[in-house]
Amino acid sequence: MSERETWATRLGFILASVGSAVGLGNIWRFPFQTAENGGAAFLVVYLVAVLVIGLPALLAEFVIGRRANVNAIDAFDRLDRPNWKVVGAIGVFAGFWTMAYYSVVGGWVIRYVYGSATGAYFGSPRDYFGAISTGPDAVALHLLFMATAVGIVAFGVEDGIEKATKVMVPSIIVLMIGLAGYAVTLPGGGEGYAFFLSPDVSVIADDYRSVVPAAVGQALFSLSLGFSVMITYASYIGDDENLGVDGVSIAAFNTFVGVLAGFVVFPFLFAQGVAVGDAGPGAVFVSVAAALGGLPFGRLLGVVFFGVVLIAALSSAISLLEVVTSYVVDNYEVGRAQTATGLGAVLFVGGVPSAMDIAWLDWFDTVAVNLLLPLAALGVVGFVGWVLAGEATDEIQQGTAGADGLSTVWLWTLRTVVLAAVAASLYLGVRELTAPPL
Ligand code: PHE
Repeated sequence: MSERETWATRLGFILASVGSAVGLGNIWRFPFQTAENGGAAFLVVYLVAVLVIGLPALLAEFVIGRRANVNAIDAFDRLDRPNWKVVGAIGVFAGFWTMAYYSVVGGWVIRYVYGSATGAYFGSPRDYFGAISTGPDAVALHLLFMATAVGIVAFGVEDGIEKATKVMVPSIIVLMIGLAGYAVTLPGGGEGYAFFLSPDVSVIADDYRSVVPAAVGQALFSLSLGFSVMITYASYIGDDENLGVDGVSIAAFNTFVGVLAGFVVFPFLFAQGVAVGDAGPGAVFVSVAAALGGLPFGRLLGVVFFGVVLIAALSSAISLLEVVTSYVVDNYEVGRAQTATGLGAVLFVGGVPSAMDIAWLDWFDTVAVNLLLPLAALGVVGFVGWVLAGEATDEIQQGTAGADGLSTVWLWTLRTVVLAAVAASLYLGVRELTAPPL
């Protein structure tokens, strides 16, 4: 087997991980989760969940990946716990499953970039979404999105993913800050900030049964946990890196972009009097599109906004594809480019039902987020907390000076709070599963 690839630089690893984390989850899912779960109250719970649950779980994936230095399934062999391979396998499968429909949404975003340029959706945003979201055009754009992701992954870790995300992540941040700056100038946007930033504590007290799991799920999904992405990405880094500092930077960047998205979306919506609670996979497309229609420079703004969403979606999609690609490349005598292409073809076919019927897309998403993600995350957290245990604290201390006390706190947080929270999300998530829309 040829020499395994690595990241060229530490920043490269951080940006690629941020690229994976920042995606449709931050710009599309987060604002609407916030809207449905009481606005600012949800934001508070989400921030706590990122810190107390997301960050420790992220470090758990890093520990597995770096210690094993191999793809997320073989990692458990390498760590002498072959029975636990099933955890890696669920994660890899989750990534595969998710990529199939994520790419369909990616296709919609491509459509909205040029739909904004021509002003196509300004007349009736709802009908436009209905018309473009399913059918042959949606299939074609899903293919285009998938092919782009395949193209990047085919170039490899350093020349493909690292180079691409080095440009993508800074552009996302700069463009989002620009949009947030524009949003400040909107008359009537003030209510949007109030909705987003003044927590109504009674919402948490009354609805914690739905708000808390939603916030935990959002924290995990948004940090790309449970899909073996962070295990895979960490397998390409060196022992001298400080995992704690990397993890904190990645979580902080990711949260920053999510919050920034709120600073764009809510003033846009409130300034135009568009209802925020309009849920479902079409939410951002319909309501942001409706808001853009009435704003000065709406077309330009639309191109920039959906352009950012597209870059973010693509940098997440490549991480999903990389998880499976890395498994195949590590195990079989197949080149990276052929592997990525072959997998892309299978994934394309897997996404066709979602591109033909939104009920399928919804079902794929629910299975991914309510079942596969928490199941794999539960395995990872239990494994690192209780099985690796002392080896995990040794690993996390590599590349740090001291920090014994912190690593013990981390281990016990994983073993207790994180494990319980993930188990609870799994339980609640499974209860909401539905049969496929056959
Ligand atoms: N974190 C990504 C987002 O917020 C989604 C994702 C999950 C990407 C898992 C890769 C793996 O959109």
